[in-house]
Amino acid sequence: PDANKGYTYDDCKATADWLLAQTDVRPTVGIVCGSGLGGLADMLKDQVIFNYKDIPNFPQSTVHGHAGRLVFGTLKGRPCVCMQGRFHLYEGYLIQKIALPMRIFKLLGVETVLLTNAAGGLNQDFKVGDVMIIKDHLNMPGFAGNNPLAGPNDERFGVRFPCMSDAYDRELQQMAMDIGQELGYGDFLKEGVYCLLGGPSFETVAESRMLHKLGVDAVGMSTVYEVIVARHCGMRVFALSLITNQVVMDYDSGEKANHEEVLHTAKLRAEQLERLVSTMVTRIEDN
Ligand code: 6GU
Repeated sequence: PDANKGYTYDDCKATADWLLAQTDVRPTVGIVCGSGLGGLADMLKDQVIFNYKDIPNFPQSTVHGHAGRLVFGTLKGRPCVCMQGRFHLYEGYLIQKIALPMRIFKLLGVETVLLTNAAGGLNQDFKVGDVMIIKDHLNMPGFAGNNPLAGPNDERFGVRFPCMSDAYDRELQQMAMDIGQELGYGDFLKEGVYCLLGGPSFETVAESRMLHKLGVDAVGMSTVYEVIVARHCGMRVFALSLITNQVVMDYDSGEKANHEEVLHTAKLRAEQLERLVSTMVTRIEDN
């Protein structure tokens, strides 16, 4: 791909067709697993697995806690495709590359995307282990022009100036809340605004305080670009954050943000998150 233009429609189509030729699964739901949450993909039955390194045009995962596999299969009988490992700005990818899999999802026939991530909690009512249904986002790098849709627009994907005020599907948020209640997860299920930062360094105290004042509930290094590209090409989007650590907002705090804590908390909640998301898949397909 041309560094200035990113991937063309034909590049994406070639990748999608390459995948479709090797599996009978025709997914309508696409899932993206966050740090330490790759167990979701392991729930799929009749798996057809592709390592990212074998897929034409596909970037590779470089982060510990991300497997780097695209898994096709069925979840309770529903055809799904699942990214076990995703791409982040801090790995040094072109922004277009980070969200490229969303366009491939679209060309595979996916209509609904469910994204998960690990995030730091800024909302003082949040506890480590809470699950935040994302109702909106701040694309902080976007204020400086870092948007995955920058560059020529191909109308076959979507319009030049896509709406983002309805990015997170309200019906899916309500469905997640309902299912969470039914499963007995009410105590740790929250909702809020997610803010993307470029990373890989965690926030300073001053940055955390600023974001808190701006109304951010959780902060992380993923998801937002995928949401923008998925909405651009007309897929329904649902996203949630597992609050794996509290963001440090106090100079006297002895806490230090670290990736190990992120993975540790993910492990504790993984099974419940998998049940929540897999139940959502069942209901989405029933509608
Ligand atoms: Cl505390 N900050 C950021 N930026 N990303 C995170 C995180 C914190 N915890 C998990 N991911």
